[in-house]
Amino acid sequence: MAVAVASARSDNGDPLYQVTGVDQDTEVGRERMAMLGRGEFPFRTTDPSLVEATSRCHAQGNLTTTTDESAYDEADVVVVDIPLDIPFLDDAPQFDMADFENAFRGVVRRVPAGALILIETTVPPGTCERILMPILIEELDVRGLDKSAIHLAHSYERVMPGENYLHSITHFWRVYAGVTLQAADICKTFLSTIIDVEQYPLTRLSSTTASETAKLMENTYRAANIAFIDEWTKYSEAIGIDLYEVIDAIRVRPTHSNIRFPGVGVGGYCLTKDPAFVPAAARQFFSKPGLDFPFSLLSLKINQAMPLHAVDRLKTLLSGEVKEKNILLLGVSYRQDIGDTRYSPVEQFARELIQAGSRVQAYDPFVSYWPEMDMPLPPAMPPPSSVDAVVFTTPHKELKKLDLVSWLDGCQPVILDTVDVVSKLQREQCRSLGVQIESIGRGDGL
Ligand SMILES: NC(=O)c1ccc[n+]([C@@H]2O[C@H](COP(=O)([O-])OP(=O)(O)OC[C@H]3O[C@@H](n4cnc5c(N)ncnc54)[C@H](O)[C@@H]3O)[C@@H](O)[C@H]2O)c1
Repeated sequence: MAVAVASARSDNGDPLYQVTGVDQDTEVGRERMAMLGRGEFPFRTTDPSLVEATSRCHAQGNLTTTTDESAYDEADVVVVDIPLDIPFLDDAPQFDMADFENAFRGVVRRVPAGALILIETTVPPGTCERILMPILIEELDVRGLDKSAIHLAHSYERVMPGENYLHSITHFWRVYAGVTLQAADICKTFLSTIIDVEQYPLTRLSSTTASETAKLMENTYRAANIAFIDEWTKYSEAIGIDLYEVIDAIRVRPTHSNIRFPGVGVGGYCLTKDPAFVPAAARQFFSKPGLDFPFSLLSLKINQAMPLHAVDRLKTLLSGEVKEKNILLLGVSYRQDIGDTRYSPVEQFARELIQAGSRVQAYDPFVSYWPEMDMPLPPAMPPPSSVDAVVFTTPHKELKKLDLVSWLDGCQPVILDTVDVVSKLQREQCRSLGVQIESIGRGDGL
């Protein structure tokens, strides 16, 4: 978002904004700000336009960084994109808003009158109106300012990490709302300078609570759509059909074109937590304990358990025993062509295998160190010799392009494809060479 804002230009090509990225004075925060401050994008990315835009904005001098909160003193707009977690594995998730509230308070104490504070963090519905507004009013009162002196709005990113990362911010529809009409108008003006609103018009909602809800409903819908596939995956494998073939046929219908495919599970920082937000907010912020959201919470549970099914399938392939087997995982990030391993389903898959006594190694073209597993990863595909099983766990392009038969070079590990990386032809070639290969979502031998 910082790079997107710094890339905004006036009609005559001049930068519209002087952007300062602010992060915490922690090791992570300092490192990220140091890199961005040198014009380097602080994460490995496959989006060349993001790398180029970061370096261009740095060279032009309108993208700087700091860990010093005094940066808020001069800000006309503050975009809040900090995390807000929920203990999502609990049966009754509960928010602890303290860090978020403190961060907001720190901004409100310093920004000049007239500034816009735009909340982009995924927050529980009611946050702007019920949690942040009282803080804003309290702090403005201390400063002797009217409660309308600073404008509060909400808008959420629909950012898609990957090769169109930057474009997914600047060229995509956005929802927004303001706590007041004036805040909404200022937010609209700001977003219109960053997003191609001619092609992707903004959608204004009548309250920030509605906008906050839209983000969460959108992600819960996605998570439920993925969870829905789980039972059909198991069914298809059990009765010996190819679920991919079935889904391809169904997706021809425009009304069903976004039905999801089988896989190893759901990961990332959003879909794994967001479905728990609204049930918790209904209880904590609106005192509506009767709103249970059984469907959304069941989706979360199903998605959390999905990697276990892949473990079972691998066990069967290895004649019921994974103990002391050498298993190579290909792909550890939660999504194709990115290096983000947060809440990756591959982590749970690996942990289950390690707990059962397997020796797990992994390779990922985007990850050199797997922090959640404290595991260094090799810079190139390890050879399959001395490997009992190979599991495709992330559908990176590089893995899709792999010449599987040449790489196997006569070795015969069992192969499990959990993410549809191996083509039908490759499966047939492997089988003709005596390699046992199966896929999640397909019956044996398909
Ligand atoms: N990653 C995505 O694709 C995505 C998409 C849509 C929405 N979101 C939402 O955006 C928010 C941020 O997600 P993320 O993936 O960028 O998280 P992240 O953890 O990668 O980045 C957040 C950054 O905020 C910093 N931070 C924390 N507290 C701070 C403070 N008080 N002041 C300044 N900096 C602070 C952290 O050090 C960190 O560098 C979350 O609410 C997430 O759900 C993320």
